[in-house]
Amino acid sequence: EGFLPFEHEPYFAFGDAAVAQQQQEAYRKVREQYVGRQFPLILDGHRIEGDDTFEVRNPADTREVVWRFPKATPAQLEQAIAAARVAFEEWRFSDPFQRATIFKRAAELMRARRMEFNAVMGLENGKNWFEADGEVAECVDHFEVFAREAMRWAQGKPVYPMPDEHVTTVYEPIGVVAVISPWNFPAAIPLGMALGAIAAGNTVVWKPASETPLSSYLMVELLFEAGLPRGVIQFLTGTDDVLGDPLVDHKDIRMIAFTGSKEIGCRIMERAAKVQPGQRWLKRVMAEMGGKDPTVVCADGDIDAAASGIVQAAFGYAGQKCSACSRVIAEESIYDELLAKVVKLAGELKVGLPEHNAALGPVIHSGSAERIMGYVEAGKQTARLVLGGERADSGEAQGGYVQPTIFADVDPKDPLFQEEIFGPVLAFTPARDWQHAIELANDSEYGLTAAFYSRDPRKIEEARRKIHVGNLYINRKCTGALSGTHAFGGYGMSGTNAKVGGPDYLFWFLQTKTVAQKY
Ligand code: NAD
Ligand code: ALA
Repeated sequence: EGFLPFEHEPYFAFGDAAVAQQQQEAYRKVREQYVGRQFPLILDGHRIEGDDTFEVRNPADTREVVWRFPKATPAQLEQAIAAARVAFEEWRFSDPFQRATIFKRAAELMRARRMEFNAVMGLENGKNWFEADGEVAECVDHFEVFAREAMRWAQGKPVYPMPDEHVTTVYEPIGVVAVISPWNFPAAIPLGMALGAIAAGNTVVWKPASETPLSSYLMVELLFEAGLPRGVIQFLTGTDDVLGDPLVDHKDIRMIAFTGSKEIGCRIMERAAKVQPGQRWLKRVMAEMGGKDPTVVCADGDIDAAASGIVQAAFGYAGQKCSACSRVIAEESIYDELLAKVVKLAGELKVGLPEHNAALGPVIHSGSAERIMGYVEAGKQTARLVLGGERADSGEAQGGYVQPTIFADVDPKDPLFQEEIFGPVLAFTPARDWQHAIELANDSEYGLTAAFYSRDPRKIEEARRKIHVGNLYINRKCTGALSGTHAFGGYGMSGTNAKVGGPDYLFWFLQTKTVAQKY
């Protein structure tokens, strides 16, 4: 009671001049308050400054160092894990209602600071206002959803009864969870994993991506402000040689909750399988990884809606989403028409600064831009370039700007069709008919999201059954899962299918106890 009903956090209407002005003002304040500062680690509730730091640069103009964070030492990693172990002994028995109340309070605090978070994110990972707002609103939703989930799982589940025994099935927390996250959703992704852990009664060592630590740091501070006891989350920034393998390998880590690349996810899975001296459990690994997400368009589909959904999903945040549409598979009879519409809409996207809310900003690093251009140059030899194909001009700013790029007639064996490029590059491939289109959609080692456009219930039914992905969207774009509604996580090499924001997510962070009592 008091926790229902639930409504998703509405987005800001930036088209309204007054709202846009508030967002600009938030950027000004963030620059005044945060730019140039050095932030600490958080160990057992203590803020720890460090002499050895690393700088975070604004991807929109990499000449600008926005803030600095410490490089945690191996000794600090030990302290963090030890503090989380100690805190676990109390937090594991905390009242789930207390946990839920903290999350509700955090949701309120966050609502009041959404524009600030948008601006911080824009400055460290290059999201424009819309993209940042979507993620920050998702954080508010996460707080609300996990408050409810903490209460729900605390109730246990009914069992088939026995006449002479009282039997209960209850869920208990498991221990210290390492949360390791990527830069492309620096707030919502680590928050989802951390809230899953602490809603279940575990404690956390939170290691954000080094490109985007402030979005995470402010989130952890906000949780403490909302009343989270010290020691329940440790916040560590630094280098992968100290916080990568050594964190995963540590004998006192019970679970690794990871979101990031296939390469690192597979590495974690393998290393975590080894039982270390003194380790008294098998480690659990949640590894949510990449995608090569298709949009299938049938001849009877709404071509205009498909074109608009494809452009948003392929080029929003410069295609740097695991959920981004990177392949379009269309029936031959409407292939040219759809391609022309998508090329027209994508060609209208303005490249520019995220801080000015440009539709297409920079990719995260100049190194990423080079990697993306490697795929583009190779694609010019193997497919038909119909849009872009070059680095984009961003005026004075120095950053990894890449033109929205579309290749047509891409062979399904081509790397453009098979590999995650993680940039504004889209591959079009024709299909003989709609069944062939579904086959091509499934021709991937990944299986994260897909979109399917058709008006025919029979085709939709077949798509629902046959498209091999964790998140299938019919007649809408394949990005923008909402916490609590679109449980998120993929099949195949997209990972462990943990389904963040879904009804079973907390189970990942729990173990089940059966108690049978005679009298
Ligand atoms: P990444 O794998 O390079 O890094 C992710 C995190 O792992 C970072 O914090 C990094 O410091 C850490 N790390 C690096 N080496 C490590 C090691 N040896 N042990 C433990 N941790 C280590 O990924 P990225 O470039 O930050 O993010 C982009 C990738 O993330 C893309 O592949 C994208 O598809 C994927 N992603 C997946 C989802 C999903 O829900 N499936 C969501 C967002 C992003
Ligand atoms: N959860 C994010 C989306 O659905 C990645 O787009």
